[in-house]
Amino acid sequence: MFPTERPRRLRRSGPLRRLVAETDLLPRHLVAPLFVAEGREHPRPIESLPGHVQHTRDSLRREVAELARRGVGGVILFGVPATKDPLGSGAYDDEGIVQVALRDVVAEVGDDLVVMADLCLDEYTDHGHCGVLRPDGVVDNDATLEYYGRAALAQARAGAAVVAPSGMMDGQVGAIRHALDDAGFSDTAILAYSAKYASGLYGPFREAVGVEIAGGGNRSTYQQDWRNRREAHREVRLDLDEGADMVMVKPAMTYLDILRDLREAVDVPLCAYHVSGEYSMIKAAAERGWIDGDAVAREQLGALRRAGADFILTYFAGEIAGSIS
Ligand code: PBG
Repeated sequence: MFPTERPRRLRRSGPLRRLVAETDLLPRHLVAPLFVAEGREHPRPIESLPGHVQHTRDSLRREVAELARRGVGGVILFGVPATKDPLGSGAYDDEGIVQVALRDVVAEVGDDLVVMADLCLDEYTDHGHCGVLRPDGVVDNDATLEYYGRAALAQARAGAAVVAPSGMMDGQVGAIRHALDDAGFSDTAILAYSAKYASGLYGPFREAVGVEIAGGGNRSTYQQDWRNRREAHREVRLDLDEGADMVMVKPAMTYLDILRDLREAVDVPLCAYHVSGEYSMIKAAAERGWIDGDAVAREQLGALRRAGADFILTYFAGEIAGSIS
C-alpha cells in the first residue's frame, strides 16, 4: 500500500538536493544592463527600476569594477545622450556617450568580464524609433542599416567585445557583420536580439533612457507579434545565416516556450533578456511585502537556465551575484 518509489528521499537535505540539482545559476551566467548619461555630474536614480541609476562616467566605472569583483559574466551598456536628433547621431559618433563609456570601462576592467554594447538608434533619435524615418514617418529598414553599421564600428573601435543589435531591422546582422569585417574587426562578436517581441514589459526601460515614441506610437511594425512562435525560428535562422554568434529571446518569462524551442534548434549560445518590466514587477510586489523578491528573482532566473538559456541579461545581476556564488 505504501509507495516504493519515493522522490522525496532525494529532497531530504540541502546537500542531497544540491547533489542532484539539474541546473544551476551562477554569477557568470548573468549580464548586467547599465545606463550611462552624457554630461551628468551625479548618478540619477531611475524610479521605475529601484536600485538602478543613470550613471555618470565615474560611477559607471566603479559599478563595472564591482560587478567584475562579484564574478558577473558581463555588462551591456545603454546610453542616455544629452541631445537627440532625427538620425540618432549619438549612436555612431566616436564621442557619443556609449563610445566614451566603453573606453572608460575597458580601461578599468580590461578582460575581467565581457563588455557589450546595445546597438540601436532609439535612445538617440528625437522620434524614439529604432531606425531612421522616411518622410511619411515610416521606419526605413534599409536606410537604417547604414547607421547600424556605423554604430557597430564606433563601438568596436571603443573596445566593445560584443555588439548587440536590438532594433529588429531585417538584414541588420549581415550589415553589421560586413561593416565590422571590412574594417578589420572580424573578432568583434555579435549577440543578436533575434526573437524580440513587441512587449508591454519595456516600460521602465523607456523611462530609464528617456525614450518616448513619437505620436504615442509603438514598435509593432518591427518587433515580433507575441502570438507567434514559429516566426522566432525564422528570425533566428536569418540572424545565424547573416553571421550572428549568439542569439537572444526577449522578454524572458512569457517566452519560455520560445527559449526551449530554440535551445533544441540551434547550437550557438542562447540568451534570455529578463527585461525591465519583469524586474520592476518583482520589486514592486516585494516592496509591498507580498512576495520574497530575492527568492522570486532566483526562481525566475533559474527557470530561464532550466528552459535552456546559457546566460541571462538581468537587472538583478549585481544584486544576486553575491548570494548565488
Ligand atoms: C531598444 C531596446 C529596448 C530594450 C532593450 N533595447 C527597448 C525597446 O525595444 O523599446 C528594453 C529592455 C528592457 O525593457 O529591459 N534599444
